[in-house]
Amino acid sequence: MDLKLEYSSKSLSAEKAGALVVLVPEETDWSLCGAKELPEDVQNVLESVRKLKVFSGKKGTTHHVVTGNGNWPQVLLVGLGDRKELTAEALRRAAGKVGRLIPSLKSTTAALILSGSLEHVTTHALGMVLAEGLGLGAYEYTEFKSSENGDLPKSVRVKLVDPEKLTDSKSVKAGALRAEATNLARSLGNTPPNVLSPSELAKRAEAMSKRQKLKFRVLDESEMRKLGMHMLLGVGQGSEEPSKLLIMEYRHDKASDTVAIVGKGITFDTGGISLKPSKGMDEMKFDMCGAAAVVGAMQSIAQHKPKVNVIGVVAAAENMPDGKAQRPGDIVKAYNGKTVEVLNTDAEGRLVLGDALAYVVDQFKPTAVLDLATLTGACIVALGHQACGAITNNAELMDKVRVAAEQSGERVWELPNYPEYAESLKGKHGDLRNIGDGDAGTIIGGAFLQHFVGETPWVHLDIAGAAWSVKHVDYHPSGSATGVGVRLLTDLVLNWN
Ligand code: BES
Ligand code: ZN
Ligand code: ZN
Repeated sequence: MDLKLEYSSKSLSAEKAGALVVLVPEETDWSLCGAKELPEDVQNVLESVRKLKVFSGKKGTTHHVVTGNGNWPQVLLVGLGDRKELTAEALRRAAGKVGRLIPSLKSTTAALILSGSLEHVTTHALGMVLAEGLGLGAYEYTEFKSSENGDLPKSVRVKLVDPEKLTDSKSVKAGALRAEATNLARSLGNTPPNVLSPSELAKRAEAMSKRQKLKFRVLDESEMRKLGMHMLLGVGQGSEEPSKLLIMEYRHDKASDTVAIVGKGITFDTGGISLKPSKGMDEMKFDMCGAAAVVGAMQSIAQHKPKVNVIGVVAAAENMPDGKAQRPGDIVKAYNGKTVEVLNTDAEGRLVLGDALAYVVDQFKPTAVLDLATLTGACIVALGHQACGAITNNAELMDKVRVAAEQSGERVWELPNYPEYAESLKGKHGDLRNIGDGDAGTIIGGAFLQHFVGETPWVHLDIAGAAWSVKHVDYHPSGSATGVGVRLLTDLVLNWN
């Protein structure tokens, strides 16, 4: 379903729509929710809902009312819970629920009333988080469904009606763009692995770059060989699909800093010769969600035009077992000259990222570099699906990431990076090995990557748990990609100076 967002600061009495959505904090007077501008008969219906106590505004609850009024034939009430505990993220989730439910109202128009009950969420954030939640909640991946859900509308226009001018059209627009870019990342993640090869990922990143007027370049295998990126090439050598390194550049005339963002783009991770068990292996189509976040973030960044240069890099390869595949025990040389013993071919993300990080640090000399990767199953053990894990070499950059995480609702939790962790990565016959001794898997993954960023301030985000299977957030579809990272990276660079 396609959701089109509009904004109006007119009174509700100047509007009409197939459905009215009212966000209701628990036990609040209806008039506080903007309902006093509704025709009297609709107000009476709402009043009887309250008298009957079928809906009290409890968090997570919704109530659907048919009014009999021609201008507002139905009302959807959405509970926000305790007003004092109302946060931007709670509103985003409530709007997400609305986005998800809206097609079932079978109307092609709807209005959502903004009112004093939401006043203490800051003006700027209010329109943005509501638009974001609506756009994210309405998302569905239907590319491969041959029949559409016949009686549901294909497109709905939702107007945010804001008579008290609590927000503005600009922030609604920003929220819509952020949702759109996140949905782009989600669709990349959801696309099946027989379709989304490294070459196809390159094509789609190129199409995005063209639309947003970003400079775009692909390094193919022969160019990577010349550059000495043998860690990346080793991962892809068992696949019929050639590996690719994608580079997208956003520039601002007045920028003094450059931020590089690097994504793991394993379009399918079988584990290679260290083959994964078959149960759940289909989910390894999501092993390119770090890359998807980078592509989505580059779109969003190009549209928001922050005063900082941003280089987006995607390390794309398919990890397959084959006669030509890399073996456990192989020793490969990285872009930065370090040699690595590949003891487990399933720890491939750090190999492709290591080369991509070393390349971007060397070629672009960024002020800071971030990488996003579905790097370790251990991250899901540690944090579940509730947060991304973070490893850093720079407390200041980590603080910036924490602020962006808080703003975007994309939670990040820092894990320690004590030097002792790195010891188990010392190689026997090479400089490094690609696995540790089995403990602290997520930290070890980060510690490996640290060898490829030199002194550049760096944050590694392990998005293994947050990239899909997130069930507790109303604006995320539970069985598919979340697009995590897009909004966080957007906020990080928008806050930069
Ligand atoms: N892509 C996986 C990590 C993963 C697994 C993410 C399950 C989300 C869900 C990664 O390439 C991998 O296989 N990592 C290994 C590392 C180990 C061999 C050190 C892992 O987590 O088991
Ligand atoms: Zn793997
Ligand atoms: Zn992987």
